[in-house]
Amino acid sequence: MKFFVDTANLSHIKEAADLGILDGVTTNPSLMAKEGIKGNENILKHYADICALVDGDVSAEVLSTDFESMVAEGKALAAIHPNIVVKVPMIKDGIKAIKWFTDNGIRTNCTLVFSAGQAILAAKAGAAYVSPFIGRIDDSSWDGIQLIEQLAHIFMVQGFETEILAASIRNPLHIVRAAEAGAHICTCPLGSILGLLKHPLTDIGLAQFLEDAKKM
Ligand code: E4P
Repeated sequence: MKFFVDTANLSHIKEAADLGILDGVTTNPSLMAKEGIKGNENILKHYADICALVDGDVSAEVLSTDFESMVAEGKALAAIHPNIVVKVPMIKDGIKAIKWFTDNGIRTNCTLVFSAGQAILAAKAGAAYVSPFIGRIDDSSWDGIQLIEQLAHIFMVQGFETEILAASIRNPLHIVRAAEAGAHICTCPLGSILGLLKHPLTDIGLAQFLEDAKKM
């Protein structure tokens, strides 16, 4: 399973990349706004800065919702760097845009996916990635991991090449369960990735080894 970090924060991206296990980055308008990135020029520059930090795909989201504007925006985003993947919302014009991008050699990530039907449409249109938002599904008392299991089964049976990008990860257990359910990628906040390191028995064991090492 690949690890993406879900942030527009450059120091978080650098910290994840320094771990040596980072395969890519996803962003969204809320994450960009959180970093205070405003205006078209700054947005494009910020994506270029992210691409310079990570050797892997970087999802950059279109801000418009009609086909023509999404295509124009996506072309400008894709021109920033070969690793840019255009993130397109799961709406009717979005599917049309994903198909256009696919036919024109631009890779896409279909975002805001909450059902198998939506994911099938995105895969059919040729999306490189489909992003089921498992945390937000859990927030509404449905089971996000169950959707990952369903998609893994459907994509295998149908031979879809689209990769399942488990998004809206809230904690380390989501990562473990998404891996178990067959997600190809998990995109996570840095804290959830670092949370995978934690186990009290590791801390106790290491303290004991370091203590005993003094007697060697
Ligand atoms: C995915 O690409 C999104 O950026 C993200 O995972 C959304 O997560 P949230 O539900 O924590 O906002």
